[in-house]
Amino acid sequence: MGVLKVKTASGEYEVLIEKGAADVVGSRLRTVGDGGKAAIITDDNVMPLYLDRINENIKKAGFETYVYVLPHGESSKNGCEYLKILEFLAQSELDRHDNVIALGGGVVGDIAGYAAATYLRGIGFIQIPTTLLSMTDSSVGGKTAIDLKAGKNLAGAFWQPKFVAIDTDFLKTLPESEIKNGLGEILKYAVISGGGILRMLEDGFGKHVSEIVEASVNVKRRIVEADEKESGLRRILNFGHTPAHAAEKLSGYSLSHGVCVAAGVNVMLRASVRKAGCPACDAERIAALSRKYALPVSFAYSPGELAAASVNDKKSQGGFINLVLAEKIGSVFSEKVPLTELEEYFR
Ligand SMILES: NC(=O)c1ccc[n+]([C@@H]2O[C@H](COP(=O)([O-])OP(=O)(O)OC[C@H]3O[C@@H](n4cnc5c(N)ncnc54)[C@H](O)[C@@H]3O)[C@@H](O)[C@H]2O)c1
Repeated sequence: MGVLKVKTASGEYEVLIEKGAADVVGSRLRTVGDGGKAAIITDDNVMPLYLDRINENIKKAGFETYVYVLPHGESSKNGCEYLKILEFLAQSELDRHDNVIALGGGVVGDIAGYAAATYLRGIGFIQIPTTLLSMTDSSVGGKTAIDLKAGKNLAGAFWQPKFVAIDTDFLKTLPESEIKNGLGEILKYAVISGGGILRMLEDGFGKHVSEIVEASVNVKRRIVEADEKESGLRRILNFGHTPAHAAEKLSGYSLSHGVCVAAGVNVMLRASVRKAGCPACDAERIAALSRKYALPVSFAYSPGELAAASVNDKKSQGGFINLVLAEKIGSVFSEKVPLTELEEYFR
């Protein structure tokens, strides 16, 4: 089993990565705390697929379990569901030694994590991600959140899990569209780190699933260890995200995040060729890889529309926005750009 240790200022935890990792959750839980209860938060798609297996495993390890099921999808990541989860934890009489377990994709992980971060001012939290995006991105790094009417992820907390169990077997039931969603973020890791992820993607995702997941988590691990709360280096994880967020917003959130990130990665690579000396062959290499996985290399929106939609991006401040550019594959940096020049970057 691949085991990565994430060491941040607020704690150290392990990420277990392997087919079958879900079957050690109960025994692992024993080693990370002394509570007797575990609340499993999941959604109504994941519940019929994996809940029994996880629930039995945790009960066998001697825990009393409680289960809360959300309707699937982003629309559940709201304040109303969040409060319902808090009431559920209170009614189940979880105390500060007990744990919340997120079994699902990024939606479940984000809302369950925020509930764990705030219930009794913070109780233990375990991530069992079940989508490619949550395995490679959202389950590691400690960002938890819910959406507000004014925008996505506007209320949240940094709250690191006690451990993360990534069972790549769960991907067997994931719809193709959700695999593509995760591949958009993996493409971003390929640009940030170059090397192994890129070569494995070129060889074929299906041949290297666990290794690609592990390599992606390893990139994220390195970055969040250096900058847990996004005061500097962590910004590079936003490569491709500024135009992606703009396109998601313009589509009324009907376009999937990962697919927009893939287009954003390509747009920012072409901008890097013009503005940061990135070799054109690097941008072409990523464009070829995108096409191999039927991911877009551009947006249906004009540069002007994308720039206008970025003006209220939460990462913009005082007329400037931090954009991430690439000197080449494997070397990216963040640069402060005036909002008035943004359109030029999205050409
Ligand atoms: N916290 C972070 O650092 C971070 C990073 C990136 C994204 N996010 C958040 O993650 C969320 C998106 O996460 P997501 O892409 O995992 O979406 P998701 O959680 O909505 O899951 C996608 C769909 O797949 C279904 N599903 C999950 N696992 C399955 C499986 N194994 N088999 C079959 N169906 C399955 C779900 O029910 C859902 O319908 C967004 O809210 C985003 O803001 C958070």
